[in-house]
Amino acid sequence: MSAAALERLAAARAFKPMEAFDELADNHVDFDELLGGKRREAALAKALQGTTPARVAVLGPSGSGKSSLIAATLADLPAFLPLSIAIGQADVGILDSQARFGQFIIRELLRQAKGRFATQQKIGRRREAALARLAADTTTRTGPVGKLALNIGIHDYAAVSTEIRSAIKSTESDLNPSQSLEGLEEIARVFSAPERPTPVLIIDDADKWAGSPVPGDEDKRARLLFTSALQPLLTLQLHLVVAVQQHWKKLVEYENLDKRLDATIEIPKLPKDAVPALTQIIASRALDVGIEDITNLIEDGALARLEAEYDRSDRSIRHVLRVLDLALRDAADDSPTPERLTRVHVRHAAHKLGQ
Ligand SMILES: Nc1ncnc2c1ncn2[C@@H]1O[C@H](COP(=O)(O)OP(=O)(O)OP(=O)(O)O)[C@@H](O)[C@H]1O
Ligand SMILES: [Mg+2]
Repeated sequence: MSAAALERLAAARAFKPMEAFDELADNHVDFDELLGGKRREAALAKALQGTTPARVAVLGPSGSGKSSLIAATLADLPAFLPLSIAIGQADVGILDSQARFGQFIIRELLRQAKGRFATQQKIGRRREAALARLAADTTTRTGPVGKLALNIGIHDYAAVSTEIRSAIKSTESDLNPSQSLEGLEEIARVFSAPERPTPVLIIDDADKWAGSPVPGDEDKRARLLFTSALQPLLTLQLHLVVAVQQHWKKLVEYENLDKRLDATIEIPKLPKDAVPALTQIIASRALDVGIEDITNLIEDGALARLEAEYDRSDRSIRHVLRVLDLALRDAADDSPTPERLTRVHVRHAAHKLGQ
């Protein structure tokens, strides 16, 4: 019975770390729930629900749950439209000028806008009748059309998509880089017209982006990020959430940016005995593949070893999940499959992953 459950978890890759925003949101266990208080998810939600645009930093080491917290909090606030800009893959040259940075953000937003509206159009064709019913009832924005519709309000998507298209056109033909931030305002305005939800611009993956293989270069890039790149965005009429690496907190440039922020949310370190919190995260993933009880599936010693990995990796939940994922696949390869995951499985997996 347990062996079958182990095999099922391994086959489903139940603990493989997530990257996509939607997946992160679905799998997040609130830190507020794990640790009590209202200082993380609740604080972010509160900051975004104010009447004026909020500028918020989410601070934490890599893999600690910054993107996860942002994604989950926004998913719980259906009135807000998250525009997540993953800058990890971008050419670092965009840091050199505000105009280039602005243009990059615009291009990303446009890409998302196109994607969203293309999807909505497909949905629209397939479910014309259902949409007509929704359109008649402006109080019901939820329903079978899913998150997109819920975020934007499906009844006026045709009007919005026309506006977006014209904004796209005018920005694409804008060859003057100094106008790029105006272009950004234009796009933001389309998203934030009064009858529509407030957009939230999320600058994520900043660490990967500013990270540099050249020693000593990383701080330079981080400094540019916090000055020429991010400062102009603070003037825009939209919510801004920035994920920031913990160790950048002490840069003077970050301190200056920090003064202009409305809130700073720090990803908490799980308590000294992190096993209960980690178990809750693990159990929630297992539940997703229909395993309701993990108590007999993972030895206490294995959990203790996962906790040690959490500490050793500077509280990276991503690392813990990676180790667990590999340990589980190795265990499922044993013949016969064991009844439970042991400390030895976890130790071997951690060695293989080189931590
Ligand atoms: N509170 C949580 N509940 C459940 N899973 C979590 C939680 N926090 C983090 N995770 C998981 O840990 C992994 C890493 O989280 P996430 O990507 O949010 O980290 P990050 O701080 O944004 O890292 P990076 O700095 O590299 O972008 C993800 O797979 C995520 O699903
Ligand atoms: Mg992240």
